[in-house]
Parts: sequence; C-alpha cells; structure tokens
Amino acid sequence: MNINRLKNTIEDIILSEKTTAEKQQAICNFLESEISYYDWVGFYFKNGNKKELKLAEFTGEPTEHTIIPFGKGICGQVAISNESFIVQNVADQDNYISCGWKVKSEIVIPVLVKGKNIGQIDIDSHTINPFTNNDKELLEFICSKVASLY
Ligand code: SME
Repeated sequence: MNINRLKNTIEDIILSEKTTAEKQQAICNFLESEISYYDWVGFYFKNGNKKELKLAEFTGEPTEHTIIPFGKGICGQVAISNESFIVQNVADQDNYISCGWKVKSEIVIPVLVKGKNIGQIDIDSHTINPFTNNDKELLEFICSKVASLY
C-alpha cells in the first residue's frame, strides 16, 4: 500500500467541489477499487437523536443491516467505545453482525468531531488477517478529513 499516494487522492476528494455525500461515496469507491482486500466499504452515522447507526454511502453488496443499535456488532461497539476496532477473524467475535459468509475480517474507525463520535467508516474483507497498522493509519487519516466536513 502506497499510503502517501492514497492520502493525496483522499485530500483531492475532500477539497473537490462535490457535496459531502458525494465525497463520502467517492472515498468508498476509491478505497474498494484501490485496496484488493477491501470488499465492502461504507459509512454509518448516528441516526438523529437515536442510539443507533444508520447506513449512509457504501460500495459493495447491499446489506440488510442499514440500522445498527449502539452496542450491537463491531459497528455498534465502536459507536460507544470511540476507538478503532480491528477484527482479523470475525469467527473470534461473539458480538458480531454477519453481512454474509464471505466476510472474514473487519475494521471500523470512528469519525470524531471535536471528540464527539458522529459515525464511522466500516470495511469488510473476504480475507482473514489482512489488516496492518497502515490500514489503521490510512483510515484514521480519512476519518479526520471526513470529520472536517461536519
Ligand atoms: N459486521 C458489522 C455489521 C455491518 S456490515 O459489516 C456492513 C458489525 O458487526 O457491526
């Protein structure tokens, strides 16, 4: 992974004339096409005043999990912990919501606006144990840039 090149393209998307939703969609599309082991990329955001996440932009197969209560699954746990969560093998997780048998691993990074958790980026992979510190660094960079849009 050429992390600097990826970061540069993300910055170009953030600074472009697109709407926030279009930027988030472009980020999903870019990541899914650039990184071979990213098979589903999406953004979830807090659903108004409810203690739940609502699916926003995504790339990959449609999921029935468009609403996720806080605390449920990997995403719901990150909504509460405010911390990045890497799951190298979903079979090891009890509190996990499956989006299909093909998914083997997942990484979720919160979008923090002045310390407030407003949402997250969620990546599903069909590969076991694919994520390194580079993924965490890149995705935390992306979430800080997305946070700047809010
Ligand atoms: N696997 C997630 C649910 C969302 S899908 O990955 C798109 C979870 O456990 O929270």
